[in-house]
Amino acid sequence: MKVLVCGGAGYIGSNMTAMLKTEGHEPVVFDNLSKGHISAIQDVQFVKGYLADFELLVQTLRKHKIEVVMHFAAFIEVGESVKEPLNYYLNNVSNTRTVLSAMEACGVEKFVFSSSAAVYGMPKKVPITEDLEKNPVNPYGETKLASERMCHWQSEAGKLRYAALRYFNAAGAGFNSAIGEDHRPESHLIPLVIQAAMGKREDVKIFGTDYGTPDGTCIRDYIHVEDLCRAHLLAMNSLALRKELIYNLGNGTGYSVREVIEMVKNVSGKKFKVTEAPRRPGDPAILTSDASKAKKELSWEPKINKLETIVATAWQWHNKFPGGYPS
Ligand code: UFG
Repeated sequence: MKVLVCGGAGYIGSNMTAMLKTEGHEPVVFDNLSKGHISAIQDVQFVKGYLADFELLVQTLRKHKIEVVMHFAAFIEVGESVKEPLNYYLNNVSNTRTVLSAMEACGVEKFVFSSSAAVYGMPKKVPITEDLEKNPVNPYGETKLASERMCHWQSEAGKLRYAALRYFNAAGAGFNSAIGEDHRPESHLIPLVIQAAMGKREDVKIFGTDYGTPDGTCIRDYIHVEDLCRAHLLAMNSLALRKELIYNLGNGTGYSVREVIEMVKNVSGKKFKVTEAPRRPGDPAILTSDASKAKKELSWEPKINKLETIVATAWQWHNKFPGGYPS
């Protein structure tokens, strides 16, 4: 398939691009490099552009005879979304609308959308199934849900076949630890702890130790980035048969912040300072997925389900690129 990968130079998008190539597809990366890294993608067609640029999108879809669009180009930080909601509505909703509109203009029907566990807000029960109440508690989650709903109605209108994939915590590095996570500034737990283990940070802060969890810290469901990408391939293939797919993607096992820190200590063999800090606003205590729907309907099975392996791949990547990707 000829696949336009919006945000294909970012963390998950670059892993997806590599997987599409490995599987014999023809990815074309569309990215403005505001967050992504050109060195994360190699030997691939690349268009530098903004998603707000309808004309460039149309031109790219036509020129490359694109059949499927995958959309990873979103802002992803909960805290930032609370401070700058309009930026999130602009990039995550308005620009998604522009992509869908360009697709409609070119008759491209298939769309794989990166959604998030953030659509559930503070879930009433875990593990979370897809039918649970969607009640986002921050602009990030709201914008993901709004985009999902936009896809739904575009699909009802007979103009779109889409998969909305609700990621839990994407982690690790793919392709023999060659393609990793490099956000600037970094806000995600595993890379931050690794940077502390490498001596690049003074300490690791635990945001909240008084949650109603066994060790008082938040529990998350970490899923290896390659497993995540494999689900996209399966979803893409299923769009020939079904026009609306919504799946949770996670391992189903939760690890606390303290457990993640201990795992990084074990994998790296390094000691570092850990500081207890106040809660981070908007953090649910526990987010774990019930991904049985994706497993059943897509025949998807995460292959890397041990936190140790996930952390080891991330550790290897950070050691290959101690300063992150070259800019
Ligand atoms: N945390 C710390 N210290 C840090 C950074 C994070 O204690 O320095 C804690 C957070 O408070 C949270 C956990 O580690 O409890 C994981 O935090 P991340 O920032 O790594 O990830 P989030 O769970 O906040 O969010 C991620 C993605 C979202 C997605 C969500 C779904 O960034 O896009 O997973 O579970 F919606």
